[in-house]
Amino acid sequence: MKQYTWGIIGPGKIANKFALALPLAGNAILKAVASRDITRAKTFADTHGGAQTYDSYKKLAADPSIDAVYIATPHSYHAEYGLLCLRHGKAVLCEKPMALNGAQVSEMIAASRLHHAFLMEAMWTCFLPLMQRITDMIDAGKIGKIKYIRADFGFLAPFQPTSRLFDLRLGGGSLLDIGIYPLFLCLHLLGRPDNIRAAGYLAPTGSDESCNALLTYNDGRSAVITSTLACQTSLTAEIAGTEGAIRIPSPWYKNDRFAYLRAGQPEETIVLEPMVNGFEYEIREVTRCLEAGLIESPSMSHAFSLTMSRTMDEIRRQIGVRYAVD
Ligand SMILES: NC(=O)c1ccc[n+]([C@@H]2O[C@H](COP(=O)([O-])OP(=O)(O)OC[C@H]3O[C@@H](n4cnc5c(N)ncnc54)[C@H](OP(=O)(O)O)[C@@H]3O)[C@@H](O)[C@H]2O)c1
Repeated sequence: MKQYTWGIIGPGKIANKFALALPLAGNAILKAVASRDITRAKTFADTHGGAQTYDSYKKLAADPSIDAVYIATPHSYHAEYGLLCLRHGKAVLCEKPMALNGAQVSEMIAASRLHHAFLMEAMWTCFLPLMQRITDMIDAGKIGKIKYIRADFGFLAPFQPTSRLFDLRLGGGSLLDIGIYPLFLCLHLLGRPDNIRAAGYLAPTGSDESCNALLTYNDGRSAVITSTLACQTSLTAEIAGTEGAIRIPSPWYKNDRFAYLRAGQPEETIVLEPMVNGFEYEIREVTRCLEAGLIESPSMSHAFSLTMSRTMDEIRRQIGVRYAVD
């Protein structure tokens, strides 16, 4: 199998974790790193065994020796740099959220199709053994018909108006940063909701410090999702069905075990293979898709990312969070 060469745009916190995962994924090597500051690019490349360095994202996008680019900038630049790379025919693995709103995600999908370049949102939880096993069990009817899901993601982030978590210009807010995980779980297992009711609390910058949303379905299913930057929450998830339930302990979005419950039966703990890094699974998915000549992953499709983004648009509309691009 071909070795896929990767470039990284935005060598910050999460890019470091991604670079550590690349050698674990197989058939993936770090080839180039681009930073707005060449010293940061060189330091990052040195830390990860060496790579070509660029002082501009544009130069990396134009490098013909790069197959795939991981975009790890703050959210508000995902669309701009994603489009830049797609127009150069690069495969793009874009950090979550794919972009700030549904309109931007649509534009990225159109570019992926036009340039026949792979595009996937880096929703890594989707590819973990945990999600694979839970999805298989649900498909096999192990908990009957799902009626209710609840999931939360909250931590205490000291308020800093210029941090990417709070600054609207960087896509600040709990929903796009961490609420997207509970939302992913619900949409993955239940599909697009028929109704959305959301309430939140805004930070002085206008971004959502916390966000709660109730997703309901006309056939009686429902889901409750919570995200907050104001306190540590339990980081747990439960999926309740007519024949049983699955409860994922903290941290639910990256756990390697979960509880399986059925009426009248002792609770069963299902333990999966331990993760080394966690990002290796999504990188393998990109490789698998590129080998198959696909421009989207069947597991994290363009349509799914668009549904997530449009659902977040509606939640933000209800709680009053507006980005300049809305
Ligand atoms: N999958 C996950 O588990 C996970 C976890 C955390 C974050 N994320 C996602 O990854 C993305 C980056 O998060 P992060 O925590 O790694 O961010 P970060 O460290 O604050 O920033 C990442 C890099 O973006 C570049 N950048 C470009 N324009 C920038 C600007 N105007 N302001 C600040 N930085 C800018 C910077 O690199 P240079 O200046 O060197 O070019 C910076 O180092 C976010 O979209 C987030 O949602 C994912």
